[in-house]
Amino acid sequence: MSKPSLVFVCRDCGGESLRWAGQCPHCRAWNTLEELQLARRPQAARAGAGRPSAVPLELSKIDLSDNPRMRLGWEELNRPLGGGVVPGSVILLAGEPGVGKSTLLMHLAVQASTAGDKVLYASGEESAHQIGLRARRLGAETSAVWLLAETDLDRIVAAAELERPALLIVDSIQTVADASVDAAPGSVSQVRDCAARLSRLAKESALPVVLVGHVTKEGSIAGPRVLEHMVDVVLSLEGERQQEYRILRAQKNRFGSTEEIGVFAMGEAGFSEVQDPGAALISELGPTPGSVIMVSLEGSRPLLVEIQTLVSSTPFGLPRRTATGIDPSRLQMVIAVLDKRAGLSLSSSDVFANVAGGFRVAEPAADLPLALSLAGNLREAALAAGCIAIGELGLNGEVRRVTQLERRLTEAQRRGFTRALIPRGTVHARAGIDLVEVRDLRQAIALAFPGSPAGAQT
Ligand code: TYD
Ligand code: MG
Repeated sequence: MSKPSLVFVCRDCGGESLRWAGQCPHCRAWNTLEELQLARRPQAARAGAGRPSAVPLELSKIDLSDNPRMRLGWEELNRPLGGGVVPGSVILLAGEPGVGKSTLLMHLAVQASTAGDKVLYASGEESAHQIGLRARRLGAETSAVWLLAETDLDRIVAAAELERPALLIVDSIQTVADASVDAAPGSVSQVRDCAARLSRLAKESALPVVLVGHVTKEGSIAGPRVLEHMVDVVLSLEGERQQEYRILRAQKNRFGSTEEIGVFAMGEAGFSEVQDPGAALISELGPTPGSVIMVSLEGSRPLLVEIQTLVSSTPFGLPRRTATGIDPSRLQMVIAVLDKRAGLSLSSSDVFANVAGGFRVAEPAADLPLALSLAGNLREAALAAGCIAIGELGLNGEVRRVTQLERRLTEAQRRGFTRALIPRGTVHARAGIDLVEVRDLRQAIALAFPGSPAGAQT
């Protein structure tokens, strides 16, 4: 069969289709298919003519010694990267516009250049003047960071080959364009082609490359998901623009764990690393109905996180469920379990669920705190001061075990918590913290809110 001459690629998920359609057959998004335009390179170059033939290496003879990672000044940056920047790796930094990607990369550039290494910062987004102003705010004037305000990929690659930097930053992949590709910057064709060329440059010259990728909810520009399989590391910068804290999360890492996160605080002079977030992600209100604190495990570190919910009566018709920082389907499930297994119905209530501080919790250990937060709302009761809750909920209302409970409890204790509602039979009693083992949701609610009348619904 001959190769199809036309291929359509989804801007959102990167899935390929042979025909154009209004809806992507892979991710079901609407109006996201784009025709893929391939670069018009000379035939000879494509066939590899004139280049020396490839020489395979024996696995046991590969030299692994001269491959040190570039360690950055901040452990919060090193950790999500799996210990530092690997030579020749391609790292994608994804995030919504304004979350702080350029700011974080300027910090990264400065730290990468402290060993005297040159860092090339190519920006298609801002002028050299703008980047210079930001660098000054960050106190980054004296370093060996070289700026290139350029959108033409050929010129960026040429500059990198000429300057031989120790690190290349391209901000952003959606603004650069390869002149030999007949498509607009930010289109799937351009983004894929540019990333492929930068990746080749990275592998051939052991030059680590960091690409910035904007994520937009509308998907009007090719999303970083199109690139995910082309790069070695995908980091996402999360957080609300208005809030102080940002989380750098490893979503994919060929050289490390994908669970790791770094925590940063945005201030007057850019970011600072937050090595011990402690109670930073928790509101200072104290015990409130609808607020439950848990210890979430992000990679190797336990973090105190506050789950908040608000339940209000639905003014008309269909009740609304709004989740921020929590998986909406998990919220639906917890609401259903509360109704069926604990007799607390939310069928005529709007529900808003939120994680304080703009944080995101993806683990099922948040089920029990979420359910207790909703129950607290209905009963107008707060969890006792100094009490946390951790546990996964099964569909039958049973409270299931969670991973590494000991570590979570140690962190809770260190932060002054004295009581914990936990799944049954998982850990030994310990001094200083009162462990309340619960079997199911009904029992958990009874133990969490002992004063309030059982079965009360408002
Ligand atoms: P930026 O890095 O430009 O975001 P992105 O590249 O992801 O689009 O960061 C933009 C935000 O950061 C902007 O709202 C202002 C804020 N900011 C500070 O609060 N303090 C600072 O020192 C800097 C440089 C930026
Ligand atoms: Mg930017």
